[in-house]
Amino acid sequence: MKSDKVRKKDTIEPAQGKLGVLIPGIGGAVATTFMAGVEAIKNKMALPIGSLTQMGTVRLGKRTENRVPYIKDFITLASLDDMVFAGWDIFDDNCLTAAQKAKVLEKDLIERLRPFLSRISPMKGVYNRQYLKNLEGTHIKAGKNYMDLASALKDDIQTFTKNNAIDRCVMVWCASTETYLQPAPVHQSIAAFEQGLKENSPHISPSMIYAYAAITSGVPFVNGAPNLTVDIPALNELSKKHGVPIAGKDFKTGQTLMKTIIGPGLKSRLLGLEGWYSTNILGNRDGQVLEDPGSFKTKEESKLSVLEHILQPDLYPDLYKDFYHKVAINYYPPRGDNKEGWDCIDIFGWLGYPMQIKINFLCRDSILAAPLVLDLVLFVDFAKRAGLSGIQEWLSFYFKSPMVAPGLYPEHDLFIQLTKLKNTLRFLMDEELITHLGLEYYMD
Ligand SMILES: NC(=O)c1ccc[n+]([C@@H]2O[C@H](COP(=O)([O-])OP(=O)(O)OC[C@H]3O[C@@H](n4cnc5c(N)ncnc54)[C@H](O)[C@@H]3O)[C@@H](O)[C@H]2O)c1
Repeated sequence: MKSDKVRKKDTIEPAQGKLGVLIPGIGGAVATTFMAGVEAIKNKMALPIGSLTQMGTVRLGKRTENRVPYIKDFITLASLDDMVFAGWDIFDDNCLTAAQKAKVLEKDLIERLRPFLSRISPMKGVYNRQYLKNLEGTHIKAGKNYMDLASALKDDIQTFTKNNAIDRCVMVWCASTETYLQPAPVHQSIAAFEQGLKENSPHISPSMIYAYAAITSGVPFVNGAPNLTVDIPALNELSKKHGVPIAGKDFKTGQTLMKTIIGPGLKSRLLGLEGWYSTNILGNRDGQVLEDPGSFKTKEESKLSVLEHILQPDLYPDLYKDFYHKVAINYYPPRGDNKEGWDCIDIFGWLGYPMQIKINFLCRDSILAAPLVLDLVLFVDFAKRAGLSGIQEWLSFYFKSPMVAPGLYPEHDLFIQLTKLKNTLRFLMDEELITHLGLEYYMD
């Protein structure tokens, strides 16, 4: 990020016109719950609970100033009325049928949103069975090579933008978790990546093709899954070249959200950790995909990294060296999207005396994810208008495996992440950063 390109305060471009929201995986549980939710909120049928952009505030200046505006009044965000949705899926169900099949929302609500949901049909997806073993896509694009498929996606973006008089777009990956992929030479530079697209490199996954299409169309890209996708030098470099923000990876929702709330609390009181056993049962399509060992490995890596970074065993060997951390996900169809997470946490305190914490989180996966999608759409659009490009670390708050610049470790503590986010907004709006020092209130 070059600071001369960053626009602040009144020079940030206004949020005028329509905002196109492009979603790979538009027929999924998260995507349909998000879009239906936005429509319900616009029509005053429900509240945007869980969304920082809609309900959150930001303190400005000293505590004595009593300046605490809503974030949406502090910065210029696109209005929900200006959002237009489009996307791709590897199945051809329209969003009404997809929402009915996902069984997240009540039938009544879906019925009230019938006209809206039935109007949105997926465009054909870019699919490769190698990366998604447990789903057999039927609504897919054909192309000579990956570069051709990327061009077809770019054409889709252009046609959508033109037909709907769209002013700006953002893309959010809400499609399935792909099989585990490690960085390879083809990911290391733009030239190698583009060559790989022409040669159908086996190291280029479908999500990378979508991301390439988005970035080269000037569209910010958010990765809601743990896939490698934009977390490679080639696409990072490309995003800076095209002046577009990228953010990821893997929405931080149920169990990992809890870990990043409880973990920092234990560490701040210097309570030791012997082991943390996490298990989940879920029965949605995401659960079905995660039954495949390759996709599970991608998710597992994302979920496991959190505690190591928060607890810093190297700095605190007496408390956290060699703690046992296990994450299991079991596909259990009767529960559908209503995941049940169990955490058994073995901790120790003063003089090494052991204690236990049990967390049984009966959550709803897509209900937790939908407000994050909304915030990320609005914040990356804001970031682009403010001239930010490349990795948006200030959006770590939303991710299980936050992307960071090479050489940096990710910040996982939810509260540090929130402070970072709000300070970024203060910085862009030329407000004083808040350090929480507070000594000034006690000095004569
Ligand atoms: N709380 C959460 O729900 C949560 C949290 C973190 C991450 N995620 C991730 O978000 C993603 C979506 O979750 P979900 O519960 O909606 O899953 P889902 O299975 O209901 O939806 C995924 C959709 O993506 C489609 N798809 C798969 N590959 C595609 C491709 N190449 N192109 C276009 N469409 C494709 C599938 O057909 C499906 O409709 C998953 O990767 C999941 O791991 C979800």
